Amino acid sequence: MNLADGRGRGLDRPLRVVVVGAGARGAAYADLVGTVGVPAEVVAIAEPRAQVRDDVGDRLHLPADARLASWQDLVDRPRLADLAIVATQDRDHVDPVVALADLGYDLLVEKPLAPTAEGIAAIVAAADRTGVTVAVCHVMRFTAYTHTLLDLLATGDLGEVMAVQHLEPIGWEHFAHSFVRGNWRRRDTSSFLLLAKSCHDLDWLHAVVGDEPVRVSSFGSRGHFRAEHRPDGAADRCVDCEVEPDCPYSAARLYRRGLDPADASAHYFARIAVGGIDPTPERVESALRDGPWGRCVYDLDNDVVDHQVVTIEFARGATVAFTLTAFTPSEGRRTRVFATHGQVVGDGRHLEVTDFRSGRMRTIDTHTHGDETAAGGHGGGDAGMVRAVLTALHDGRGEIPSGLAESLVSHRLAFAGDLARRESRVVDLAEFAW
Ligand SMILES: NC(=O)c1ccc[n+]([C@@H]2O[C@H](COP(=O)([O-])OP(=O)(O)OC[C@H]3O[C@@H](n4cnc5c(N)ncnc54)[C@H](O)[C@@H]3O)[C@@H](O)[C@H]2O)c1
Repeated sequence: MNLADGRGRGLDRPLRVVVVGAGARGAAYADLVGTVGVPAEVVAIAEPRAQVRDDVGDRLHLPADARLASWQDLVDRPRLADLAIVATQDRDHVDPVVALADLGYDLLVEKPLAPTAEGIAAIVAAADRTGVTVAVCHVMRFTAYTHTLLDLLATGDLGEVMAVQHLEPIGWEHFAHSFVRGNWRRRDTSSFLLLAKSCHDLDWLHAVVGDEPVRVSSFGSRGHFRAEHRPDGAADRCVDCEVEPDCPYSAARLYRRGLDPADASAHYFARIAVGGIDPTPERVESALRDGPWGRCVYDLDNDVVDHQVVTIEFARGATVAFTLTAFTPSEGRRTRVFATHGQVVGDGRHLEVTDFRSGRMRTIDTHTHGDETAAGGHGGGDAGMVRAVLTALHDGRGEIPSGLAESLVSHRLAFAGDLARRESRVVDLAEFAW
């Protein structure tokens, strides 16, 4: 069954989009749909938080009957759009994705597809059963930086990729917000860190090496954010804490700073801390006093690791050494690609390329390449991804670089890395049947 009229031959009208979960990610995608140069419009949203629903609905000029309170309300109706963007929380992707696939919606799903093997298998089965397109929001695939690097490697000038060293610097404030105090702090209510935070990086490394991964090993732990590291004199909440001024993880400092929209990263976190709406001094103080984001990072129920190293072996023998860690500034990923005829060193914007035959080194500034500059969300990846997916579906071309089959490799790598770490063994990817 393939109900998306026009697929394969292109549409002569705008592509219709519905956004499921208009939180931080869903709202960002909803705002992008009409701005990336593809005939497309958001025709409805499904979002339970009334104020968030109204904010986004007003911004998009949606009529009242296009502002639904949940994905369940959406699947009670006949299909009203071509594409559904599913941006609910990690454990809430499978049910809407399966129900919407059965109604014939093409799907753009936030990563991770699901935090369990059963959930992933259910999505794969739904895609097979219905024939709908399922793409995954691997935004790193769509930056000018990535396009430039992949194009460079594809020329063959640097020979064959033998090894990659890659660092994901999560940033100490981002980590405390999301993975100690926030939504992704526990694997039983969300996902494990390697899946939640790094399936993008694993997907990206798969593309950069250009081969199939076969074996994984890993070490890591929750080394710091534990009760035994709580400083003397610390209080349960930052606003009551006498050592707060000396604590790098102060929520009070972060969210008060976030009152200033010019401080984009702190503003993003403050917005989440006050419930997905504009932060005001009153809302921030109330969140610090009563909300989950005002609590001491050393006295919580978090259980995800705060640093992990993963090594991967690929079919032709290439290797990857990947480190993710909380303990960094907020900065671009750092990568070294070691190929047989040259090396590339990247910082998320610049690529320093050394050619072993000439010995010459040149630097490419990818901000000057293409339109997906680092000015946009995720280095331009959000806009690049939305444009690629809308174009593929509107023009009937169908090919999307972050399609389901491709994304499954990153999910297998994440599950394998987690298993390898927990069981202290080398894990073969053939262990994963989905
Ligand atoms: N691609 C990326 O780079 C990236 C970055 C951050 C987060 N994510 C992923 O995106 C997803 C969403 O993250 P977020 O930060 O936007 O979270 P969020 O909590 O801000 O948004 C989730 C939204 O889903 C809504 N929701 C809950 N129940 C619903 C229902 N029954 N029907 C419809 N909506 C419902 C919530 O009210 C909320 O607004 C997560 O899976 C997360 O891991 C991806």
